[in-house]
Amino acid sequence: MIGLHTNMHNFNDQAAGIRVMSQVSPVRVIAVTSGKGGVGKTNLSVNLGLALAQRGQRVVLLDADMGLANVDVLLGVYPKFNLAHMLRGEKTLSQIMVDGPLGLKIIPGASGLQQMSELSAAEQAAVIREFASIDDQLDVLLVDTAAGISSTVVNFARASQDILLVVCDEPTSLTDAYAFIKLLNRDYGLDRFHVISNMVATSRQGEMLFQKLVKVTDRYLDVTLRYAGAVPHDNALRKSVQQQNPVLLSYPDSKAAMAITQIAAAIQNWPIGASSRGYLEFFVERMIQYSAQEGVA
Ligand SMILES: Nc1ncnc2c1ncn2[C@@H]1O[C@H](COP(=O)(O)OP(=O)(O)OP(=O)(O)O)[C@@H](O)[C@H]1O
Ligand SMILES: [Mg+2]
Repeated sequence: MIGLHTNMHNFNDQAAGIRVMSQVSPVRVIAVTSGKGGVGKTNLSVNLGLALAQRGQRVVLLDADMGLANVDVLLGVYPKFNLAHMLRGEKTLSQIMVDGPLGLKIIPGASGLQQMSELSAAEQAAVIREFASIDDQLDVLLVDTAAGISSTVVNFARASQDILLVVCDEPTSLTDAYAFIKLLNRDYGLDRFHVISNMVATSRQGEMLFQKLVKVTDRYLDVTLRYAGAVPHDNALRKSVQQQNPVLLSYPDSKAAMAITQIAAAIQNWPIGASSRGYLEFFVERMIQYSAQEGVA
């Protein structure tokens, strides 16, 4: 009898799960990271976001970098509110989101991210509810992380479905990328990473850069690196930064814009996890959980 009862219980849980899944399609959460700073994370996040939007995806960009040249500067939008206002309960998530070009939406992270670990249980529930409320409004959440291997960056990488690691042809870029992969693999068991070679002279150089990284990870770690593609060094991109108009919009025919569009097309074909990892509320739940663990440690 007890066995039967347990089975019934499981069955009901499964049925509830199926119901939820049929209402909300999974959200792809991608953390854009690098290890070393200044390799192009923010430019790639913004322009990949726009390229995905052009391909009909509903994209939200979470600006998780508290540094200077971040998403709002690149887009020339200046949000009044940020995640901190939402965490304090002063604004809803929808109220802090800012509209960018092509329907791209931006969540200004600001200092709010550091407060994640200090939330009470009730506040945590409120934050998860806020994110769950926009779950059906987006297909992709891109997280533009800060430079370095801070605990916040690590938490974002752990909480996301996919990690997009940006490297460029500088020794420190490769060593920092390797250190990041090693930390995530050894300490947290993550074993799958996508890599973009940025600011390369030729596509061949991009592939060689990727192979260099694979050579060391294959030797010392049990991880799978997947090549997402290369973005050439392009003055059009540099100019677009000065003009505060993303290269995809200001110079759509530039080599950088075309390469980014190609990578966006590939991203759309990445398999999307069928598990709970595909739901925004669980992403936020994991973020809060990891931040809290770190508070205890
Ligand atoms: N493909 C490219 N071609 C030419 N210049 C580029 C390219 N990608 C990035 N840059 C240059 O590098 C600068 C830094 O890029 P970006 O701000 O996107 O890097 P980041 O990794 O986000 O930096 P941080 O670690 O400080 O957040 C840009 O302002 C731009 O001048
Ligand atoms: Mg940046």
